[in-house]
Amino acid sequence: MRGIDKPPRAREKPAARRGRPESNERVMTYIVMDPCIKCKFMDCVEVCPVDCFYEGENFLAINPEECIDCGVCEPECPVDAIKPDTEDDADGKWLRINTEYAKIWPNITVKGEPPADKEAFERETGKFEKYFSAKPGRGS
Ligand code: SF4
Ligand code: F3S
Repeated sequence: MRGIDKPPRAREKPAARRGRPESNERVMTYIVMDPCIKCKFMDCVEVCPVDCFYEGENFLAINPEECIDCGVCEPECPVDAIKPDTEDDADGKWLRINTEYAKIWPNITVKGEPPADKEAFERETGKFEKYFSAKPGRGS
């Protein structure tokens, strides 16, 4: 019907998501996981409709309170580092890391220059224990 424009869904948080957590409702989010560490391609930040990525020195975190679970970022990551939190480690390790660091790192919305040596770390596993830096990135 003419004259009725729907607002873009991605900019609106669904009502059920506002003000969480305050019920037993299980709210989903996407999370950044181990493959991002020292690769940090940053293609993900350009597509997020709610700008909920936060930049560390060698890793990015998603703020689970802001993520609207659209899934747009997942296929953008060249190293497959972004997953729904249903694919987190059994102890919820990556949800905790994303939650903790998204609170203290600067927001990033524009792709920067990935590390020059990123290819050397693309296939390595267990990078968190070896390389993770809690230092903030520059943000953008
Ligand atoms: Fe942003 Fe990815 Fe969450 Fe979508 S799923 S809101 S693109 S972090
Ligand atoms: Fe990291 Fe992949 Fe984004 S490597 S910075 S999650 S595109």
